[in-house]
Amino acid sequence: MLRTRLVNAMRTSQVARISIRLQSTWANVQMGPPDAILGITESFKKDPFEQKINLGVGAYRDDAGKPYVLNSVREAEKVVLAKNLDKEYAGITGVPDFTGAAAELAYGPGSSPLLEKRVAVTQTISGTGALRIGAEFLAKFYKSKSILLPSPSWANHAAVFRTAGMQPEQYKYYDKENISLDFEGMLADLESAPAGSVVLLHACAHNPTGVDPTQEQWRKISEVVKRKGHFPFFDMAYQGFASGDCDKDAYAVRYFVEQGHQIALCQSFAKNMGLYGERVGLFSLVCASAEERARVDSQLKILIRPMYSNPPIHGARIASTILNTPELKEKWLGEVKSMADRMISMRHLLKQHLEELGSKHDWSHVTSQIGMFCYTGLSGEQVDRLAKEFSVYGTRDGRISISGITSHNVKRLAEAIHEVTK
Ligand SMILES: Cc1ncc(COP(=O)(O)O)c(C=O)c1O
Repeated sequence: MLRTRLVNAMRTSQVARISIRLQSTWANVQMGPPDAILGITESFKKDPFEQKINLGVGAYRDDAGKPYVLNSVREAEKVVLAKNLDKEYAGITGVPDFTGAAAELAYGPGSSPLLEKRVAVTQTISGTGALRIGAEFLAKFYKSKSILLPSPSWANHAAVFRTAGMQPEQYKYYDKENISLDFEGMLADLESAPAGSVVLLHACAHNPTGVDPTQEQWRKISEVVKRKGHFPFFDMAYQGFASGDCDKDAYAVRYFVEQGHQIALCQSFAKNMGLYGERVGLFSLVCASAEERARVDSQLKILIRPMYSNPPIHGARIASTILNTPELKEKWLGEVKSMADRMISMRHLLKQHLEELGSKHDWSHVTSQIGMFCYTGLSGEQVDRLAKEFSVYGTRDGRISISGITSHNVKRLAEAIHEVTK
């Protein structure tokens, strides 16, 4: 009797143990959707065709289709290594030589808020980290929680702001019919938004459309934003990549500051220095006075400390060496221009080939758009055909990365696009 009870008790505890083991702590975690861009890379990798083309890449490629490390970066890295520096932590807001020079690159050397020491600045985990710090700061201290994003915008914008507790909404930006900026729609949406809304603006080389406002249009945007008391939040992930000139690409940022807007600004050195994986970025906020800046600075530190304590130092040291060494800076600016020029010339070649093939479509947007991306106007079905029939991979919204085009594959790409748009 006693034996049977003992055996039964042992069996029950065994069953319990097995069922504990089977019921994993994470059993209720649902599979999330795959990242759209990573999905393209996967399909591209699996394709055995040698002349396949990847137009989904968000990083610069040289004319051989290879990742490119800038010579100025290689040289600066040597300088950094030769100094045999220690690996101590940076302060919460990063490497000061980097943050000062990076802010100057954006705001310009004669910028009054910089000279008056009223710009709160912190190094960030590249551009995404800058957006996240900015989003957290707004969520904590700004009077409105809604942020207007252009439609469309970089896919990660909405996720970053929503995760920080902001409510992303949209303003009209892209005119699908005319493959251009819907300037009237944009102004109308900014006019009708509640006063004091946060407005996210791509400073240059809009991702994903490649469509930027002209300087005259920026002035009108500034006027509406000011009249409505909106808060301009700039994302500048591509300074230099649009026109090849870092000053020209900073036009909108500098104009808004001149007009007295207290802007927020996110910078990334991923694209223009090719420091992608080094994660070098900057977040800044223009304040009314040095005293206000000190208060804002203190709160930025309080936000950052529990997130990642302090940023990585190696990439920031490279960027700082470039920006603070005149010869290296000169060299770097030349390399930024040559990257931008290569993309501009690929745009022209693509358009030229399409025209030579007798395409009946107007491809002028390919050359009027700017930066790394081009919104081709291709439909999702046409993009699917490009992949299936021609081993050409892009996103289903018709966006192609110009940096995936080379002088060797541009003709084949034009033929493929011509075929699916006949
Ligand atoms: C518009 C925009 N903002 C920000 C980023 C952030 O890039 P990263 O975090 O690599 O600097 C990107 C990258 O593609 C971008 O396109």
